[in-house]
Amino acid sequence: MRLSNPLLMLPVLAAIAVLGMTRQAPAAAAPDAPPVEAPAVVPSAERGHALVARDCAACHAIEAVGDSDFGPAPPFRTLHEKYPLESLEEALAEGILSGHPAMPEYEYAPDQIADIIAWMKSLDAE
Ligand code: HEC
Repeated sequence: MRLSNPLLMLPVLAAIAVLGMTRQAPAAAAPDAPPVEAPAVVPSAERGHALVARDCAACHAIEAVGDSDFGPAPPFRTLHEKYPLESLEEALAEGILSGHPAMPEYEYAPDQIADIIAWMKSLDAE
């Protein structure tokens, strides 16, 4: 009789363990917990526009219309006439846009570059 007691305890311990885990679950999903990170980065032309407005608009025309504020800087909507925007994506990623002395060098994260390209492409469509 005494020997069967520890075996009977096993299901009870398992039940306690399960209860303990379910009790923790709501805490992990608390309303103020940060949202689960999206698996894929969705490029956003709007975010790209904000970036180029901050970093590029001083010299380049960044909109579908208008002239560049700095004469020699090509309007962004004309860039695709010179080369595919994919090559600009590469250039931004490698930080080699500093080939022109007048232009400062920028470093962007891949998702920021995707946003900028998305904005450039939206200009193309006009
Ligand atoms: C201080 C002024 C200035 C700023 C700020 C600036 N640029 Fe420029 N950029 C220039 C000038 C000037 C040229 C043209 C140089 C030339 O053709 O010799 C140029 C050319 C370019 C070109 C064309 C290069 C080529 O080979 O035709 C690209 C693409 C470009 N800029 C992207 C950007 C982006 C993206 C930003 C913002 C992240 C930016 N620029 C910010 C001045 C600037």
